[in-house]
Amino acid sequence: MIIVGLNAFHGDAAACLVRDGILVAAAEEERFCRIKHWAGFPSQAMLYCLKEAGIGLADVDHIAVNSDPRANRFQRLAYVALHRPDLRLVLDRLKNHRKRSSLNHELAVAFPNERFKGRIHRVEHHLAHLASAFLPSPFEEAAIVSIDGFGDFSSAAWGVGRHNDMTIDRRVLFPHSLGVFYQALTQYLGFPHYGDEYKVMGLAPYGRPTYLEAMRRIVRLEADGGFALDLTYFRHHRENISYQWNGGSPCVGTLYSAALENLLGRPRASNQPLTARHHDIASSAQAMYEEAFFNVLNCVWNKHRLPRVAISGGCAMNSVANGRIRHATPIRQVYVQAAAGDAGGAIGAALMLWHRHGGTRNFVMNDAYWGPRADLCEIDHLLNSNAESLKRLHCTVRRFADNADLYRTTAAAIARGEVIGWFAGRMEWGPRALGNRSIICDPRRHDAKQILNAKIKRRESFRPFAPSVLAEEASAWFEDDDDVPFMTQVVQVKPTKRPLIPAVTHVDGSGRLQTVRQEANPHYHALISAFFQLTGVPMVLNTSFNENEPIVCTPREALDCFLRTNMDVLVLETMMIEREGSENERSLELDEVQQ
Ligand SMILES: [Fe+2]
Repeated sequence: MIIVGLNAFHGDAAACLVRDGILVAAAEEERFCRIKHWAGFPSQAMLYCLKEAGIGLADVDHIAVNSDPRANRFQRLAYVALHRPDLRLVLDRLKNHRKRSSLNHELAVAFPNERFKGRIHRVEHHLAHLASAFLPSPFEEAAIVSIDGFGDFSSAAWGVGRHNDMTIDRRVLFPHSLGVFYQALTQYLGFPHYGDEYKVMGLAPYGRPTYLEAMRRIVRLEADGGFALDLTYFRHHRENISYQWNGGSPCVGTLYSAALENLLGRPRASNQPLTARHHDIASSAQAMYEEAFFNVLNCVWNKHRLPRVAISGGCAMNSVANGRIRHATPIRQVYVQAAAGDAGGAIGAALMLWHRHGGTRNFVMNDAYWGPRADLCEIDHLLNSNAESLKRLHCTVRRFADNADLYRTTAAAIARGEVIGWFAGRMEWGPRALGNRSIICDPRRHDAKQILNAKIKRRESFRPFAPSVLAEEASAWFEDDDDVPFMTQVVQVKPTKRPLIPAVTHVDGSGRLQTVRQEANPHYHALISAFFQLTGVPMVLNTSFNENEPIVCTPREALDCFLRTNMDVLVLETMMIEREGSENERSLELDEVQQ
């Protein structure tokens, strides 16, 4: 049975393909259309999934979508009758629902010469989230939790997953939402773009939670794990906030009201400097989120006493909170799949459908490599057709017949302080580069952040960089020994090790690590092992292969990024492209950076 799963008309539109219950391919549309967090119908991602499976649209039995406009219908009607929100808000939402309902039209446009003969199924948004967390997890039985902004009139749901079944104990409905709380505070702190919440998470450790009492006035916790917003501080429930979910980057209007400004003071404009007050507000927002999150988890624990949890929804990307679960609750094991946000709902919807049709559970997501790959012919052709420009830019091209030699040579370049673009195998599913579309650097360098920011990233200086560490060595360097293959938990670096890896140790001594297992990614594991052998440090600094754009997908995009930035080395599978430059020139550049 072939099932295509879709996340459509939400942020991070995505498609996946499941064959007899086993994931074959998955990718976000943004990687193809090159617009971050693209929302709309994921036609290119779907096309890729079919190509990867070697089939056409006519071979697909079912399409499962992670949204059901009919879900929570009575609650919606009751809300409108009781609260009489702005008529434009109601009409806007209805228009959006109609758009989501009309997939046949989108399919006809995306596949003009093919016909879909199967059925389209709707899976309620949070059910798809919960399925995306639990069904690909290694757990037979676990607590399941989904928390996000909104989807199908809900903002959170939790309960229990057992074998193929999931039972929901509790939901939180519109207009109450932890995702909206965090997003509103993110906007207030001067980060207006969709998906900027991780910046507040990165900023939080610089401050103290001195505004926590104020935050507790905004979010009220309930004894059964639920939560409610004090709506005085928000606009989304009564005004027609501008939402853009189709044909571009998602766009959300201002969510907070003037009352929030009265409570916390003047909001920060995006071009204003960050002060200690902003750090403290970020710290307090993070602390409030964690209180509410742990309240949910502890309530689920009290009810079911399950030592494992599978988490999803946009808030599951809060890797700092995820990393503290084992300290703040009795829960011992945490699973957050690679695309825990809305993109992941595509997989949730597809697997949910497989189980509805009586399929057995026969898939565990142990790695994130579900995207397109490039073959050597394509890379050869690319380098040949760019030979002249590479020569003009003083780049040399080397082909490695022996992989061990490639690992040693690359590891030596990393240890010399060079910045490496590392392109290998299938592209990652989810927002993190995990060693196949990564930029790699030496974690031991105090100046690595400045080098990366000067040469490529130009991102805010407060944001930390993350380490990819050999799984078998992680416990010697980090306080927790949980497996974190998808970089979804932040844990403490052991105090004695912090001075050895300053580039990946955040201001509070934490690191958002990726544990790399040999069986999950032998190529990347071998590279880190070569660096370990050379330096005694079993990890590299890993950041996404991009420059203010979605992560690169093709070798062409990787080469373009290499050429327009000051990256030193590009590895495309077994080909190495090096930018020539004397050590003198490099140290001059570094001097400039350090000034
Ligand atoms: Fe969602």
